[in-house]
Amino acid sequence: MKGIVLAGGSGTRLHPATSVISKQILPVYNKPMIYYPLSVLMLSGIREIQIISTPQHIELFTSLLGDGSSLGITLDYAVQKEPKGIAEAFLVGSDHIGDDPCALILGDNIFHGPGLYALLRRSIARLDGCVLFGYPVKDPERYGVAEVDAEGRLTGLTEKPSAPRSGLAVTGLYFYDNEVVDIAKNIRPSPRGELEITDVNRVYLEQGRAHLVDLGRGFAWLDTGTHDSLLKASQYVQVLEERQGVWIAGLEEIAFRMGFIDADACHRLGLGLSHTDYGTYLMEIAGRAAP
Ligand code: TTP
Repeated sequence: MKGIVLAGGSGTRLHPATSVISKQILPVYNKPMIYYPLSVLMLSGIREIQIISTPQHIELFTSLLGDGSSLGITLDYAVQKEPKGIAEAFLVGSDHIGDDPCALILGDNIFHGPGLYALLRRSIARLDGCVLFGYPVKDPERYGVAEVDAEGRLTGLTEKPSAPRSGLAVTGLYFYDNEVVDIAKNIRPSPRGELEITDVNRVYLEQGRAHLVDLGRGFAWLDTGTHDSLLKASQYVQVLEERQGVWIAGLEEIAFRMGFIDADACHRLGLGLSHTDYGTYLMEIAGRAAP
């Protein structure tokens, strides 16, 4: 399975913080925002990942993450000229996707919670059509809202409904079979001129091949689109990391635990960061004492 992180957009709600920098490069507590979605794809076992961003910002991501080889993954980069909708990722990324299924994650979405690894792996193993991830929210009218039957099959999908028929918001993580590229090519742009991901999902829904995994109430799906939500996301990460002494979305740690790199490589990455607590942490998990 291939992966795409969609990290373009205009970030207007975060101006002036994002007037000259990409939203997805801004820190969420102690690491750039894009680390969080990237960590979800890596935890899914995906090693070939494309990062899509704007013409102005793509080089920031290339400088930050390089070709991915130090993490045992392959990263490549593509440009979305204008923010013409989330589903355009499948057109921009069609060569990258090739004949494979594809996971798409939005570059500003943070997922954290117990059993995430198992849930992701199970969802990929069962993929037939598409898998969406739903999250119970108190204000569903702000989101795409999903209705599901007892087997988790999607039965309804409404964008920002005034009278929501469920409390389940559709999050920014999606798994698709390879048909998604053709489906995205054939949907019509919305009145705003965007290729809407909901229209792609609706095609799978009509085929009876859309499934939804409810992340449930013990989980965190955090928003980072406004100044307040960005600050709260940072506080969430800070509280958990300090309390438990673990790292959330530490890409080097995940690469090691997933077996993408060995203990020597993990130790070397820690050594490169030895002026930080994270460097010491990486050396410890690699099974060696810090110097
Ligand atoms: P949004 O939050 O809808 O938009 P935005 O990030 O541009 O922010 P704002 O509303 O403040 O202007 O986008 C969600 C995510 O999807 C975000 O990571 C940007 C990304 N995105 C693209 O990369 N290209 C697109 O065409 C769209 C619509 C979104």
